[in-house]
Amino acid sequence: MISRRHFLASGLAAAAVWPVLGSVRAQSFDSDPFTLGVASGCPKPQSVVLWTRLVFPAEAAINMADPFAPAPARQFGPLDVAWEIAEDEAFTRPVQSGIAPAVPDFAHSVHVEVTGLSPKRWYFYRFRCGDAESPVGRTRTAPAADAAPGKFSFAFASCQQYEQGYYSAYRDMAARELDLVVHLGDYIYEKSYGANLVRRHGTGVPSLLYEYRDRYALYKSDPDLKAAHAAFPWLLVWDDHEVIDNYAMDHAPDAPRSTFFLEQRRAAYQAWYEHMPVPPQAAPDFSSFPIHGLHGFGQLIDIALLDTRQYRSPRLDGPAALDSEERTLLGEAQERWLDGALKGSRAKWTVIGQQTLLSQRDTAAGQDTAYNLDGWDGYRSARTRLLDSVAAAGTANPIVIGGDLHAFYAADVKRDFHDETAPAFATEFVTGSITSDGPSDASIATALAENPHLKYASGRDHGYALMHLSERQARTEFVTVSDRKDPEASARVAQEFVVIDGMPGVNRV
Ligand SMILES: [Fe+2]
Repeated sequence: MISRRHFLASGLAAAAVWPVLGSVRAQSFDSDPFTLGVASGCPKPQSVVLWTRLVFPAEAAINMADPFAPAPARQFGPLDVAWEIAEDEAFTRPVQSGIAPAVPDFAHSVHVEVTGLSPKRWYFYRFRCGDAESPVGRTRTAPAADAAPGKFSFAFASCQQYEQGYYSAYRDMAARELDLVVHLGDYIYEKSYGANLVRRHGTGVPSLLYEYRDRYALYKSDPDLKAAHAAFPWLLVWDDHEVIDNYAMDHAPDAPRSTFFLEQRRAAYQAWYEHMPVPPQAAPDFSSFPIHGLHGFGQLIDIALLDTRQYRSPRLDGPAALDSEERTLLGEAQERWLDGALKGSRAKWTVIGQQTLLSQRDTAAGQDTAYNLDGWDGYRSARTRLLDSVAAAGTANPIVIGGDLHAFYAADVKRDFHDETAPAFATEFVTGSITSDGPSDASIATALAENPHLKYASGRDHGYALMHLSERQARTEFVTVSDRKDPEASARVAQEFVVIDGMPGVNRV
């Protein structure tokens, strides 16, 4: 059993092996360039992506020619960064090492895809540049495709508005025994929202590349978020706030001209890439950036992660065209890809990760109906096509996970949500927000009263969700923090649900 507390703190004390360092150019830094920490992601049976980004403090001098320009960072050109991965936390059993480029064009971010690893193993990794050494991160490869791992546990999270709370949920997550973390979007927020803010962005709404970079750097400087990244491999997809609120494909409500908006979106997508543990891109053009994918973990679980922002039809102004066949949330190409991916999946459990609530939700009390037109309820034919794909593939044990609503939900997914007697076709769990403000108690009560397939809802709590899978069941736990405004808040498992193999639907424990 390893000591997590030790490895997170031990980077500088570890005996350095660094066989490749002779070739790293001598470089000395005025301050630690590794303050954004380290991360890993996209675990496969024989590979994993390692990430870091070097940052340099801005200089205080004001440019008198343009006093409103951002303070320039100390300029560094391309840097060589050494990386090392080992079987143990002290790096006495090194496995591989190498040199990766960190260039100004990509904000001195480092993305290394390490191949030739063994399946279902813990590894430790770190970086060095010149006289600076990163903290140590821990990661885990996926089980082999033909292996039956027996059990698998992952956390899923979304919506972490920095100003509205502290990341105690991540401190709790980092201390658990997990194989993986899945982030479903709203990793950053472009704007200030809400009242009683506990900390501030300190800068305005980003639209340029350096502004998005600064926003990610602020979020990623949080010690609890860094700890969760350093403890497990992550899979991530974005939602809207990584670019701008409620955008749809090439259109945003606050940016009516699509030529300008597409430049902003490209900057936001590039900054996302620069800050996420995703595979290195050879010659990236972020005017489009496919991030959806299928991630397998042995015969037990496949996770399909979807992007419901980049390719979606424009949001409707009213309910007139709700059922229009042409409307899409995934885009035609991603819909076709998902159809094929589900047909190829043979896993015991198939988790479909998307940004929000798939199930229908009437938000109006009584006879009236009202729907969230930014979610699947505004794209009904797309939802039908998704469920048709699941049915046509004969997907075993489909479980949908989501975020976005800043409320926890557990739901029976129906082929026809108006048929109250129909059996559940799939199961759905939506995680509450890490920190972002939640809906009113009244709106949650209405949702539960109007939608019998919604089996549980809470907008008061903040935290994240856990899913523990075995051959026989999937157990979902909603973990909630005592007070998101308290940096020392505690967390506990507040709700538990079980899905039984072969029996879709929510069972409250
Ligand atoms: Fe959100």
